[in-house]
Amino acid sequence: MSTTEVIDKVAVDLTVNGERHHCEVEPRTLLVQLLRDELRLTGTHIGCDTTYCGACTVVLNGKPVKSCTMLAAQAHDSEVLTVEGLEQDGELHPLQTAFSEHHGLQCGYCTPGMLMSSYALLTANPSPSEKQIRKGIAGNLCRCTGYHNIFKAIDAAADAMKGG
Ligand code: FES
Ligand code: FES
Repeated sequence: MSTTEVIDKVAVDLTVNGERHHCEVEPRTLLVQLLRDELRLTGTHIGCDTTYCGACTVVLNGKPVKSCTMLAAQAHDSEVLTVEGLEQDGELHPLQTAFSEHHGLQCGYCTPGMLMSSYALLTANPSPSEKQIRKGIAGNLCRCTGYHNIFKAIDAAADAMKGG
């Protein structure tokens, strides 16, 4: 291929919420665009253009990533979990229940990203201290809640996930 030849599409094969997908996207497509526009998983939000807000956070191979900050092609062969994949068999995930019960949201715009960062945190560390919870969601901004109830919700979810 000559260096001036333009690549129209790249193939991206990935697993999202347990389902295998084959997508053909422009090389410049961001992961968040693939999720929202190709797979119609619109629970992953876009809140900025600057890697700042964390509304677009998903879990990629077990780690939280800002899906507005990576190319879809970089997710080739990856396992992605989005907020739509948290609920199982009609049952909310303990994090979703705890956010609801502890009023960890108001407008809800940041909530998918908060949930996914929290999920990654509790998967890696089932008993985080308050400081570790603060660090775990440091990349997620909420313009509404003041964070206090979000911390309470994550703490309660950690207990619930341990059967407490
Ligand atoms: S949309 Fe704000 S960090 Fe991705
Ligand atoms: S609940 Fe509104 S931005 Fe967090």
